[in-house]
Amino acid sequence: MKVDKAVALVTGANRGLGQSLVKALAEAGVARIYAGARGRFDLPDFGSGTSVLPLELDITDGAQVARSASHASDVTLLINNAGLLPHGGAMSVSEKDLLAAIEVNLMGTWRMARAFAPVIEANGGGAIVNILSLISLQNAPPFAAYSAAKYASWAMTQSFRDDLAGTSVRVVACFPGGIDTDMLAGVAAAKAHPDSVASSIVEAVMRGDANVFPDRVSAIHGPALLGIS
Ligand SMILES: NC(=O)c1ccc[n+]([C@@H]2O[C@H](COP(=O)([O-])OP(=O)(O)OC[C@H]3O[C@@H](n4cnc5c(N)ncnc54)[C@H](OP(=O)(O)O)[C@@H]3O)[C@@H](O)[C@H]2O)c1
Repeated sequence: MKVDKAVALVTGANRGLGQSLVKALAEAGVARIYAGARGRFDLPDFGSGTSVLPLELDITDGAQVARSASHASDVTLLINNAGLLPHGGAMSVSEKDLLAAIEVNLMGTWRMARAFAPVIEANGGGAIVNILSLISLQNAPPFAAYSAAKYASWAMTQSFRDDLAGTSVRVVACFPGGIDTDMLAGVAAAKAHPDSVASSIVEAVMRGDANVFPDRVSAIHGPALLGIS
């Protein structure tokens, strides 16, 4: 994928890994980036050369997703980053939290990929990058809702690969380990810096990798969990 020709859209771009992804894309030379977020937020200064356009986008809202696909009609690289991690095991998680985790991590990612695949195809091809997790490959019982939703999102990612095979839309699966963002605040775990995770993701996508292991823990454990080492 040619960086200077790419037009990117990042969901959940207002904080955490999403904000770092916007920064990494700008640093890599992507000229136009749509920064999707549920509410208004302050965009950092990315210098000249990159135009970062805020886009109101709640991925659980089908009408907003459809509007974003007609508004951001020049997109060639969709990064499905938005995610939600409720705490709680299978016995303690509430039904509301389980449904919310599925609605954001599975349904929202599916909704966005389905809306943008034809857009990317019409623009001559590109990629959909789903930010999954190592937890998509190895269950984390204290985060039962998140684990179930991220496993399902990996299954859906593989189904998109199958449906879009033979088109110009590549489907990339990304499996980070712990990242030092709000999502893991208060959780004792090895955590990589979101900027370094984002740079690795952007490099791997531009290189054409199908599966991305963007941090040390992920690189050590991911390929074996995926059965490719
Ligand atoms: N942190 C980790 O250790 C880790 C590890 C592996 C994978 N990941 C994955 O990496 C991605 C980014 O996570 P993060 O660590 O940056 O988490 P985060 O700091 O909690 O940020 C989550 C982002 O998702 C957005 N979001 C949540 N629900 C949304 C919705 N319905 N519509 C649009 N945006 C929504 C949030 O927006 P608001 O500000 O509006 O809430 C926020 O921008 C997620 O997919 C996560 O599962 C994270």
